[in-house]
Amino acid sequence: MTLGMKEYIAQNPKLKYIFFGGKGGVGKTVMAGTAALWFARQGKKTLLASTNPVHSLSGLLGMNVFGKPTRVVPNLDAYEIDTKDTIEKSKVEIAEKIRWFLKFADIPTKADAFVETATMNPAFEESAMFENMINLMFEDQYEAYVFDTAPTANARRLLGMSKVYGLWVNKMLESRKEAQAMRLSLSFRNKKEEKDPLLDYLLSFQERMAHAQKLLTDREKTAFFFVTLPEALPIAVIRRFIGWFNEFGIPVGGVIVNGVIQTSQVTEDSSDFVKNRVEMQRGYLAQIDELFPEVRGRVPLFEKEVKGIDMLERVAAALFEGGVESRTA
Ligand SMILES: Nc1ncnc2c1ncn2[C@@H]1O[C@H](COP(=O)(O)OP(=O)(O)O)[C@@H](O)[C@H]1O
Ligand SMILES: [Mg+2]
Repeated sequence: MTLGMKEYIAQNPKLKYIFFGGKGGVGKTVMAGTAALWFARQGKKTLLASTNPVHSLSGLLGMNVFGKPTRVVPNLDAYEIDTKDTIEKSKVEIAEKIRWFLKFADIPTKADAFVETATMNPAFEESAMFENMINLMFEDQYEAYVFDTAPTANARRLLGMSKVYGLWVNKMLESRKEAQAMRLSLSFRNKKEEKDPLLDYLLSFQERMAHAQKLLTDREKTAFFFVTLPEALPIAVIRRFIGWFNEFGIPVGGVIVNGVIQTSQVTEDSSDFVKNRVEMQRGYLAQIDELFPEVRGRVPLFEKEVKGIDMLERVAAALFEGGVESRTA
């Protein structure tokens, strides 16, 4: 029998990094807020974090949590990372590195064109946010971390690339060490070993990536949950994500189905609109059960949007206490 969300978490007591992925608008932010509130109520010091440029957490919680971890309820801090600021800082850093390297390699070219190419693309912003996220994880100030949006493409890229990247960095390191040794043996003065910022950077980057990979693939500590509605497109999206994640050994915690219209709300007198929607959902709910063996919960479509702690409590009751079987009929 499939474990519900509450049982899954009880059976994984070391769970510490929780992510929610899925198509836009399916309820990832809502589920992240709900899970974070749950962990906090269980007595865990919890951080609910978002690397999303949209101020979704402040909207969800009805308070400003932008720019720094902000207390929401006992044990729960929320934090919307200032992505613009991070991106600017990363750009400055990258520009410095490129300039340094061009000078080091005696390449008489203006750095600007390189800097432009390196930073003017969406992948750059995405990886700046990814860096932000792993920095928070490395700081290790909380007992549970709930991230609003799963860094799906980045996690996948990171893990897919890490082997190739490791080989490449090792080769770079070898040849740079050789060059350094050669330079030392050629120099007349027994000059002290030169500082090599690029070598230092490669080493620390490799170390950070290895650490990130270890955390992200740790089956005891990490789980990615995928949120879907009982509709075709959101199902297709998480199907693809789960496929990737399984391929790279990233632990998938399971699927959460959101926005389920309660059959108890439907009577003979209900409008055709409602009856048809319910019928449509019935089909997709069956499809979800067939495709995904690990549905952790089904959350009803509420009569209003989910905003504020009181609404989050209602979602938590449905997600954690509602049971998985009760709503399939
Ligand atoms: N079960 C639900 N019942 C009613 N409204 C919901 C439910 N889940 C989410 N919503 C609303 O749907 C919208 C999208 O949810 P959100 O969590 O922001 O999605 P995402 O983060 O995946 O883009 C929000 O306005 C939210 O309040
Ligand atoms: Mg969101």
